Amino acid sequence: MDYFMPTRLYTGEGCIAKHVADLRVLGDRCVAVTSRHAAKASGALDDVERAFAEAGIALDVWDGVTENPPVSACAEAGRFAAERNAQFICGIGGGSPLDAAKAVAVFAANPTLDEEGFYDKAWECEPLPIVLVGTTAGTGSEVTKVSVLTDAAARKHSIHDDRLFAAVAFGDSRYTHTCSRPVTLSCGVDVLAHATESYFSRKADEISRAFATRAIRLAMDPLAAAAEGKELDDGQRSQLYDASILGGLAINTTGTCFPHNVGYYLTENYGVAHGFACATFLPAMLDCVRDYDAAYAAAFYSEIGADEGTLTGLIGACLPDLGIRMTTDEIEAALPRWEGNGSVKNTRADVSTGDIRELLESLFV
Ligand SMILES: [Fe+2]
Repeated sequence: MDYFMPTRLYTGEGCIAKHVADLRVLGDRCVAVTSRHAAKASGALDDVERAFAEAGIALDVWDGVTENPPVSACAEAGRFAAERNAQFICGIGGGSPLDAAKAVAVFAANPTLDEEGFYDKAWECEPLPIVLVGTTAGTGSEVTKVSVLTDAAARKHSIHDDRLFAAVAFGDSRYTHTCSRPVTLSCGVDVLAHATESYFSRKADEISRAFATRAIRLAMDPLAAAAEGKELDDGQRSQLYDASILGGLAINTTGTCFPHNVGYYLTENYGVAHGFACATFLPAMLDCVRDYDAAYAAAFYSEIGADEGTLTGLIGACLPDLGIRMTTDEIEAALPRWEGNGSVKNTRADVSTGDIRELLESLFV
């Protein structure tokens, strides 16, 4: 085993106000990185502004994060932070703002870095310290070293680096109450995808499997309730949020498998929300990992306390009808992106690009 997670994580009601003093060691000037609405609507930005003011931390807000944030926007925010002499960066929101904040911390410390240098990790200076405040139950980005951004060619790439771990992360699940039902469901199935893909990763170990299976156990009931259209109460929101953190801890060790990478294609080309895009391919992954190693799959179902039909049924109940139609020519043209792809090879099964062709054709042609 090889486990590393250096982020100080606080969860629970009012955790920012309770622990803001921890941030003083990071500096007294911060730039918050958020999207236009969610950070404000969830109450998280107000809580950060209040707590930082009380702690004597000056705060500027850069609220230009969009879904599937482009690297270029992170570079722009990085220059904004550098001009304001920010000493640390605070990402507030769901996966997009949190992943963007990690890149902004890199660009703020290296304002002349270009996109190639960013992906090559040719970072002369260490990224600024990062603080993350989660407002959705899905990404787990609060506790990961992963940032998924969109490049100049409109392709999504994940970058993994120990320097992208937050110094401090806050998770107050009250913020997730303002998530719409589609956001709750899409983020919720992202939790299932992280945990399931992690379990069936070739890099899985005892620690990552413990996180992954616990994440699924915690996520299933609240997610089933959300899929039935029920409003989630505080306990269910908190349980789903905890599951998202555990999913993040699992993928830190293992990364994700082919559903995430093939899901990027649906997001890039059809605008499908990240969680829905990835979960679309989870049932197919469950099918091929069972064929590859039935005993390993049986251990998985025993550990999550549910059978394959129950898990795929839950995924199906959460997924909307995507209404996507593809031509065989389009699929053929897309296939090279999965040739030798790390996430495909990471799957604990033999998955060829021919298998991905068949999968896409079965779902969308
Ligand atoms: Fe994800």
